[in-house]
Amino acid sequence: MERLYRMLYPMRVCLITSRHEGKDNVMAASWVFPISMDPPLFGVSVSPKRHSYRMIKEGNAFGINLPGSDMEKAVTICGTKSGRDADKFLEAGLTKEEGARVPLIRECMASIECEVVSEIEAGDHTVFVGKAVKIVKRKEGEGLYQSADGFVSV
Ligand SMILES: Cc1cc2nc3c(=O)[nH]c(=O)nc-3n(C[C@H](O)[C@H](O)[C@H](O)COP(=O)(O)O)c2cc1C
Repeated sequence: MERLYRMLYPMRVCLITSRHEGKDNVMAASWVFPISMDPPLFGVSVSPKRHSYRMIKEGNAFGINLPGSDMEKAVTICGTKSGRDADKFLEAGLTKEEGARVPLIRECMASIECEVVSEIEAGDHTVFVGKAVKIVKRKEGEGLYQSADGFVSV
């Protein structure tokens, strides 16, 4: 099974932002994918163990932010610490840009804000399906990808 997973990498890493009861959070996620063009739907597969899971579920929205290859350190912080016990925006040096319902990340090359339209329980993860309500493109550059053994840029 592990060998099969390795075959699927490298995979683009995103930073998923969320907001609930006035608190903001951000986590790294590689299991992010487009689902439909019309309407524009995107999915993110989130383990219920993540603090972000509850934030997205309760807040009904999430942001998909695309980090560039220069953001490896910030992505590592967002993918290894939990928003339960850390302000990851502060620790990772990320600047919030206001979206309609969730914060977006100014340092990222692009952001897609999504409103949750459905949730699919899928094994040990839940797929949140979101409809894009705002798209911001800031700059071109190399994206950051998770390889089976770390990060690579493409
Ligand atoms: C490169 C990378 C990709 C990740 N992809 C996912 C993912 O797609 N889904 C998921 O549930 N967790 C994923 N994680 C794990 C979460 O980012 C990690 O558990 C994080 O600490 C959760 O933060 P939170 O508790 O503040 O939500 C990934 C971690 C890394 C480093």
